[in-house]
Amino acid sequence: MVDVHSAHAPPAITSEQITETVLAAVADTPDPRIRQLVTALIRHGHDLAREVGLQPAELLAAAQYMKRCGEYSDRSRHEFILLADVLGLTMVVDTLATPVPSGALESSVLGPFYRAGAPVEPNGADLCRGALRGEAAHICGRALDVDGVPVAGAELDVWGTDHNGLYENMDPRQPEYNLRGRFVTDDDGHYELWTVKPVSYPIPDDGPVGDLLRATARSNMRPAHLHVIASAPDFRTIITELYTDDDPYLGTDAVFGVKPSLIVHYDWISEPARCAAAGRSAGFWELQHDFVLTAGESTTVAFSTERRESR
Ligand code: BEZ
Ligand code: FE
Repeated sequence: MVDVHSAHAPPAITSEQITETVLAAVADTPDPRIRQLVTALIRHGHDLAREVGLQPAELLAAAQYMKRCGEYSDRSRHEFILLADVLGLTMVVDTLATPVPSGALESSVLGPFYRAGAPVEPNGADLCRGALRGEAAHICGRALDVDGVPVAGAELDVWGTDHNGLYENMDPRQPEYNLRGRFVTDDDGHYELWTVKPVSYPIPDDGPVGDLLRATARSNMRPAHLHVIASAPDFRTIITELYTDDDPYLGTDAVFGVKPSLIVHYDWISEPARCAAAGRSAGFWELQHDFVLTAGESTTVAFSTERRESR
């Protein structure tokens, strides 16, 4: 029988000693960045467990939750990106990674619905590849550097939902690459496109991320927005969104993407002469917006979704 009062009994190990042992186990990680990341993960993870008194059943529940995130992910849906988005982690990381001078285009969330390889369109093209089902929107302006000098040859990779709040890759009724396209600025830095006016829409909430939103009494709505990736040689690639100024969800975005400089105003154009000049038989919305690019290195986007097979 163990004598718990014996002077020779080793003292019970503490959680802090376990943390020190684990940190020592990774101390020789050859890649310095991996060592830094893993060390911080261990330190903060163990501190989190101590702070909240994490119970074994809760750790198992967390593991089950991550497993379900994997099960809900497929070629057209990425539940882990969604999770980082609703926790605000994406916006913290993006904002830290892309500091820009005052007045320059700021970053916002990429989201899980970006599809690379959209067709390059001539300026003035309409991204409605089928029947117009939303409200027509004309969007035009220039790409400029921070001194106001036009940037020729900048690429604007644009995507948005249809009137039903669905991206084409999630909606088999929409044509391939509907409401997605890339535009290149002309010699004066101008771009011009037609699409549908963005609508607010719910992010997918039928999986583990939805459970989290409900458990924390949060809305699953995103304010109306147009996605843009702005890039040009010798300029920083900016992944961002333009948010419509009259949207009721601007203050409660499920993924915290709204920044004041990204809120834009669409004018309603209905004068017959303007409609006729634009080749439209009915009124339309118009957004005039310049993209101010920051000098730096252009980068590629390391994620693309695919189109969901019709079921
Ligand atoms: C989106 O705007 O496409 C989006 C962003 C984050 C999560 C879900 C959707
Ligand atoms: Fe979106």
